Amino acid sequence: SFFPGLAQEPGKFNYDESQVGTYTLPPLLQTTGGQKITSATQWNTTQRPALLKLFADNVYGRLPGKPAGMHYKVVSEDKQALGGKAILKQVTIYFTPADTGASMDVLLFLPKQAKGPVPVFAGLNFKGNHTVHPDPQIKVTSRWVAEDKNAGITGNRANEQTRGLQASRWVVEEIIARGYGLATAYYGDLEPDYPEGYKTGIRTQLRKNLKIQPNEWGAIGAWAWGMSRMLDYLETEPAVNAKKVALQGHSRIGKAALWAGVNDPRFAIIISNESGEGGAALARRWYGETVARLNEAFPHWFSPNYRKFDHNPNQMPVDQHQLLALVAPRPLYVASAQEDQWSDPKGEFLSAQATAPVYALFGKKGIDSSAMPGLNQPVGETVRYHNRSGKHDVTLYDWQQYLSFADKHFGQAQ
Ligand code: GCU
Repeated sequence: SFFPGLAQEPGKFNYDESQVGTYTLPPLLQTTGGQKITSATQWNTTQRPALLKLFADNVYGRLPGKPAGMHYKVVSEDKQALGGKAILKQVTIYFTPADTGASMDVLLFLPKQAKGPVPVFAGLNFKGNHTVHPDPQIKVTSRWVAEDKNAGITGNRANEQTRGLQASRWVVEEIIARGYGLATAYYGDLEPDYPEGYKTGIRTQLRKNLKIQPNEWGAIGAWAWGMSRMLDYLETEPAVNAKKVALQGHSRIGKAALWAGVNDPRFAIIISNESGEGGAALARRWYGETVARLNEAFPHWFSPNYRKFDHNPNQMPVDQHQLLALVAPRPLYVASAQEDQWSDPKGEFLSAQATAPVYALFGKKGIDSSAMPGLNQPVGETVRYHNRSGKHDVTLYDWQQYLSFADKHFGQAQ
């Protein structure tokens, strides 16, 4: 666990369906002023901007734009990676005009056999680019990393032994074989994930004398912002089809992927893998993690205003089905894992399912049944959902679903 000691505690929360109680979700197709939303145009011009602002002001905080002076440097390029099947490129994105300031290291794998620009999966990783794949040329991050005694990570420093540590979560060979590229960066390049981490992260680096405002962006905002900067870079890469970038995120990074995806309409597909509370799961459903617990354990993730709802999520002007609906009309995949009850699989399903009327405004089909599907049985069209058997993780099964979903919506990659 990232936060030692917390691993046991989630057991104390509600896991009993009969205790969930009743709740009323804020409406999707009615404004706070009572106006009914009946068309895609009204959604786009009235309801969507209003909801986006409510999420920024009450949950995630406001995001700044693209900084002036941002630029890229190619660090390495290998045209014979993965036994000749891929191009492996490492690029540093500098957020300021200098090559010494805030930056993010992007690792890019591209299929060698491509006939033209390829669709790409993009996402941040938890432990450094070198953990995504064992290839020895991948730079080992020199940033702060979370302690992990099992992996031999001590003193908050990564090491050679952790190369490929998270490879099972990225299935690079499979992604390449299916004709897609993969772009990833370490989330700690943007903000180290601990309460004081912002002091050395981009929130401080981009703004001198940061004074945290009630609707200030948190770490999730910083990670989300970094995802958009990665896409800025991908737009400059001729081998990439930047109109076909699928953004994927797991868990806390899944929360950030949703926030990035709703703010940045350039992301063509959004994938939330077990993002749970503060991500895909309904806040008003009392099951698994709660807003209070999220804010207590991770005080740096959300905006200070979110704390107002710690003990009364019913008072929030929004709920998470509205966040998911802001992805419309783009394809959205929400995935849960059965043994990850902390993330509330059913609350994630209900939230995804509730978006159907918004997708319908655009002539798109979401999930039409309100019954929770069986294990490993994906449901839905433009909005899709599965509950995988097994624990909180990203697996080959999950990726196979995402690849097929992308094939369907992008047209087969090769
Ligand atoms: C904790 C946290 C979750 C989060 C998860 C993760 O369990 O409570 O909200 O999604 O960590 O990022 O793995």
